[in-house]
Amino acid sequence: MAELDPKYSIGIPEMDAQHARWIQLIDEFRAAGSGHLLDQAGRHAASRALQKLLEYTQSHFASEEAFVAAHHYPDLEEHKRAHRELETKVAELLAEIRAHETNTTPLKLNMFITIWLMEHIMKEDDKYARFILGKK
Ligand SMILES: [Fe+2]
Ligand SMILES: [Fe+2]
Repeated sequence: MAELDPKYSIGIPEMDAQHARWIQLIDEFRAAGSGHLLDQAGRHAASRALQKLLEYTQSHFASEEAFVAAHHYPDLEEHKRAHRELETKVAELLAEIRAHETNTTPLKLNMFITIWLMEHIMKEDDKYARFILGKK
């Protein structure tokens, strides 16, 4: 089991556990993606890691949406929209890597992934957690 850095904890163990796994896959992708995207082996490694990350992202989002809906979170629809946008961005990035899009640099990849996914936990996920924990 991956350990979650406490700074990413939203205080809900079930979701923290999924975020720990998610961040582990983000790190794996970053490690693969910071290699040589210009050579075939590098692109293969990066696209395999990103494919895995995309699949886990979709399953985490589905699970999180069900969890949040069960707690009658008022901003569920907005949260779902943010999820769909993130899934689209990750899928686009995967398509870019597969299409040998040479202007995708490792730095750009790392920055995008960090901004999109990590900020989502710290801002959007934290918002529903405040709401759910606040009701208790
Ligand atoms: Fe999440
Ligand atoms: Fe979320």
